[in-house]
Amino acid sequence: MLNKKIFIKTFGCQMNEYDSNRIYDSVSKLGFVKTSNQSNADCYILNTCHIRDKAKEKVYHEIGRVKKLYKNKKKPIMVIAGCVAQAENEEMFKREPYIDIILGPQSYHKVNDLLDEYIVNQKQEETEFDTISKFGYFDQIKNNNNKISAFLTIQEGCDKFCHFCVVPYTRGPEYSRPFKKIIGEAEQLIENGVKEITLLGQNVNAYSYLENAKEYRLSHIINCLNQYSELVRIRYTTSHPRDMTEDLIECYSSNQKLMPFVHLPIQSGSNRMLELMNRKHTVDDYLNIYERLKKINQDIEFSSDFIIGYPGETQKDFEETFDLIKKIKFINSFSFIFSPRPGTIASKLDMIDKNIAKERLTIIQEKLFNNQIKINKSMENQIIDVLVENKMEKQNKFFGRNKYITPVIFDGNDNQIGKNIKVKIQTTNQNTLFGSVNKNMRAA
Ligand code: SAM
Ligand code: SF4
Ligand code: F3S
Repeated sequence: MLNKKIFIKTFGCQMNEYDSNRIYDSVSKLGFVKTSNQSNADCYILNTCHIRDKAKEKVYHEIGRVKKLYKNKKKPIMVIAGCVAQAENEEMFKREPYIDIILGPQSYHKVNDLLDEYIVNQKQEETEFDTISKFGYFDQIKNNNNKISAFLTIQEGCDKFCHFCVVPYTRGPEYSRPFKKIIGEAEQLIENGVKEITLLGQNVNAYSYLENAKEYRLSHIINCLNQYSELVRIRYTTSHPRDMTEDLIECYSSNQKLMPFVHLPIQSGSNRMLELMNRKHTVDDYLNIYERLKKINQDIEFSSDFIIGYPGETQKDFEETFDLIKKIKFINSFSFIFSPRPGTIASKLDMIDKNIAKERLTIIQEKLFNNQIKINKSMENQIIDVLVENKMEKQNKFFGRNKYITPVIFDGNDNQIGKNIKVKIQTTNQNTLFGSVNKNMRAA
């Protein structure tokens, strides 16, 4: 099996991106080599997302594309991984015989065995929630990620069961990895040259690990990572308002490497909607967190997620969401129309008029995007800190991000990759800042 090629196409959240990298780490033990040529692989994995829209249909569409790519070639071993694999499992074999292996997110530790023992035309499915064995297995496999910015999963799954969300069904119950294993993996990343670590979890701030009667929380991980001199930045995502505890808030005053950027989904500015969604927090809880954080560090900016047109959303509820956006100037945000997910409580409720939902989304996005444009514009002519990630593929420019994770494109040089440097911003648009490095500006 030496030097077989593997290609993984990843959809969805950062956790899927982390998982895909770990699958590459695992299958390299079998001699599989990562390829960027998707039409020349011996194994083709689709790492799927089930969060919205016609997720399932998209997967079949993708398989159709792969079939075309390999029409006159040897068929790759076709693996469907991720959240659609978990939700649909064996049903997929019936509809699409091209699929060879179905692999749910808590069964990735089985990937090597499945590929090693693969026999043509013998379908295999693994969708058990075996989270402890999965992380136990991957703790033995080195994380080879050597990008400047890397993800590190510390917690997975969700026990909150928001009525709209499929994640508790696809990722299973909340599980927190052992503290020491997380720090060990972070050390591997730092040795590989990683300068920014983003700690991941579906509810990352619900992280809780007990050892010798001591509870380790997200704050302990952040404070521990802060001590590694080669590490430049620490981030975490996605957090839930219910788990924004005082120790975590305190990190923003004591921890220089923790970026002043909080992605904290609220979903709606109406308490009535939050209750119907089973969010377990109110708008006031959210505003309270906002004020506490702003008090600790005025520099902190927020981003959020919004669901527009949730069943039962009235004009008044919608206006309350709009008012919230006027109050908090989110630096960036994700907003989507409610999408009924199979198996969730909300999928059984009556949908609101599609056109009204679309109109509301347009209004909310215009406001959010205008905020974003204004905030970015306010950075023009300023000299800001940028962690340089890479040279761009198609242009002779460099790419990095500011403290708020906004992309920055600028004239730079190879020596700056991995460094925190000063960039003067010249122009901006909704999503990106453009600048240059002045010789007289010293690196931070
Ligand atoms: N755990 C995070 C939280 O509770 O805030 C969110 C994780 S979820 C993967 C990311 C986002 O997808 C949610 O914040 C929500 O806005 C969106 N989302 C989830 N289910 C959705 C649905 N059925 N329709 C539309 N958006 C949805
Ligand atoms: Fe989904 Fe809610 Fe869990 Fe977030 S907290 S992953 S939105 S169920
Ligand atoms: Fe999608 Fe699963 Fe992530 S549904 S957003 S890939 S947890």
